[in-house]
Amino acid sequence: MEYSPLQASRYTYQPKLPAVLRGGPAAIAMELGKPTESLADHEAVRALFPNSYGKPLAHFSRGTGSASRARLAVGVILSGGPAPGGHNVIAGLFDGLVAGNPDSVLIGFKGGPGGLIDNKFVMLDAKAIDQYRNTGGFDIIGSGRTKIETPEQFAASAANARAHRLDAIVVIGGDDSNTNAALLAEYFLKENVPCRVIGVPKTIDGDLKNEYIEASFGFDTATKTYAELVGNIERDAASSRKYWHFIKLMGRSASHIALECALQCRPNVAFVSEEIETKGMTLAQVTEMICASVVARAARGLNFGVVLIPEGLIEFIPDFKTLIAGLNDLMAARGNEFKARADDAGKLDFVQSALAGASASLYASLPADIKKQLIMDRDPHGNVQVSRIDTEKLLIAMVEKRLAEQKSAGSYTGAFSALAHFFGYEGRCAFPSNFDADYCYALGYAAFMLVANGLTGYLSSVHNLSAPAAEWVAGGVPLTMMMNIEHRHGADKPVIRKALVELDGAPFKAFAAARGGWALETAYRFPGAIQYYGPTEVCDRPTETLLLEHPTGR
Ligand code: FBP
Repeated sequence: MEYSPLQASRYTYQPKLPAVLRGGPAAIAMELGKPTESLADHEAVRALFPNSYGKPLAHFSRGTGSASRARLAVGVILSGGPAPGGHNVIAGLFDGLVAGNPDSVLIGFKGGPGGLIDNKFVMLDAKAIDQYRNTGGFDIIGSGRTKIETPEQFAASAANARAHRLDAIVVIGGDDSNTNAALLAEYFLKENVPCRVIGVPKTIDGDLKNEYIEASFGFDTATKTYAELVGNIERDAASSRKYWHFIKLMGRSASHIALECALQCRPNVAFVSEEIETKGMTLAQVTEMICASVVARAARGLNFGVVLIPEGLIEFIPDFKTLIAGLNDLMAARGNEFKARADDAGKLDFVQSALAGASASLYASLPADIKKQLIMDRDPHGNVQVSRIDTEKLLIAMVEKRLAEQKSAGSYTGAFSALAHFFGYEGRCAFPSNFDADYCYALGYAAFMLVANGLTGYLSSVHNLSAPAAEWVAGGVPLTMMMNIEHRHGADKPVIRKALVELDGAPFKAFAAARGGWALETAYRFPGAIQYYGPTEVCDRPTETLLLEHPTGR
């Protein structure tokens, strides 16, 4: 295979390990703190995790290590959507294993947790790992979204762990996958399966973080990739001066990605879904916020702009939430009548006449395409797939309509021409930034150290991340410590709490303080492409979110 110059060069990049993880397992000591409690619902979580609840925090430091130097067999799983740096987690884990004992082996389960259930695996040796060092993607073993849920799936996982004589399984995933890792750790303890389970915090969405996990890996690279694109569009907008660009950004429910891109690029308008929900804003009010900027800028002769929209926005607009719930109920109760309508027009009429009150007026106000997406695109459980709704196009249509009204009333005389974009998959497999390359390698190495010290039910943790990599701190956080009970899919379940954007957090406050000016001025900032080689302040700078949330590190 012929490599691009950057790929060839990245193979030789040596990730920076924190000082505490240098020198091999013999030079890394582990200290354990006091017993811990779950985030909330202590008794309920304890009852569900009788064997793994309440373990102490683990902390690594330089000293005499007592980690096992025996040969270890470890399985690794990539779970959920790709995030830049996953390959380096595996590389760090592999290098740790070999440093501990050259006969240790690493087995990659293919296609996510399903690979463990179905025993689809590949042996990962040095030659295989070297092909993937510092590269983006999850293609070394693939990923998947299967959950280990049923008694049969737990039993199959245990049987395969025993068959491979695994000492540990490392699950690289987001909040749901690590909740699943906690359940697997508990199951193995209950069934006396001698296999530990360690998680690693992954997701570009940035919503797996808490007091002990400062950032999920992949967020840094993905947001830098999107911010480059947003900055380029801003420059185009300011050069051609004729378009308003509406850009939807991935991130599922949480708006961390949109907020980070806003902080980096200073667009004219950016939404944070969590704020929309807290303020109970309607679609009309959201539209009005954009129109206010369009009208004010037009008055200054600026008929161009950039709007950032988080992927999950629509779910957070209360009147939309009610409409979607109403549509779900309608389809569940009268789906056959709906299907019996011969064509789209008939189906739309049926839905319109079945809705009542505010939902009926909202539905009537929507463009035809969105009306269709709301009733056609349903998942196997009968829910509308909100991420497949073209929110960016919906907002363009709403703004066009409102501006036309203002034009007839004489309060707006500008020209409005809009373009829609969606950035998501473009950022999930980019070459990891130096930050993610270093962070992931350290997370993988720390995961090995947790395994070699005999721990199970822990999440690998590396923090103090706004300091230079040499000063990062490493250890492990008990998975049950991050859990609480939530009502999901009709039942109370133990889950790792998803971290949404906090309106009293420093990143949102910085955005809220500046956005008034951005709405009027052309205050764009151009982050440019990720730089892998060059000055540290350019190449190793973490996200604005991390620097604002943890300002003391640098
Ligand atoms: P994870 O939570 O598994 O990391 O995935 C994040 C994500 O990229 C979301 O931002 C997005 O909504 C979703 O995955 C898309 O999923 P899919 O890959 O199934 O299209």
